[in-house]
Amino acid sequence: MDWTKPAIISLPKICDPRGNLTFVQDGDQVPFHIARAYWIYDVPAGEERGGHSHHDMRQLLIATSGSFSVNLTDGFVTVTHTLNRPFEGLYIPPGIWRTIDNFASGSVCLSLVSMEYDESDYVREFDEFLALAEKKGPVI
Ligand code: TYD
Repeated sequence: MDWTKPAIISLPKICDPRGNLTFVQDGDQVPFHIARAYWIYDVPAGEERGGHSHHDMRQLLIATSGSFSVNLTDGFVTVTHTLNRPFEGLYIPPGIWRTIDNFASGSVCLSLVSMEYDESDYVREFDEFLALAEKKGPVI
């Protein structure tokens, strides 16, 4: 697996007539220590989240409920992943600008990340991101 690039990761799915179960644990499904989890929910129709990149933070996004689109760019190409399966995660390495939109009503976007919250790790200006991306070169 090339962890410098975004990737869809299949997570374990324990099928059971009582209901299915999926898990993630340190060192198994993700290439980073999970330092923090947060989730986005109650997103009004038409709203967009994200709109930033990170210097160091790596993360895994999971649609634990519902469906939404994750738009990724490395400054050279843009790809969109629709997440709607609780047994799949989208791995995002550092240096990728992301926006999240098209939230279906009731969706929950779970994010497992490699660092504690640190505002200085965010790049929130697209122009600043593009300047960094140009230095770094294509990633996706
Ligand atoms: P932000 O990362 O901009 O949200 P998005 O998921 O849309 O990119 O975070 C929104 C606000 O929440 C911002 O003021 C920072 C705060 N926040 C925390 O305090 N702790 C956290 O773990 C996260 C993810 C955000």
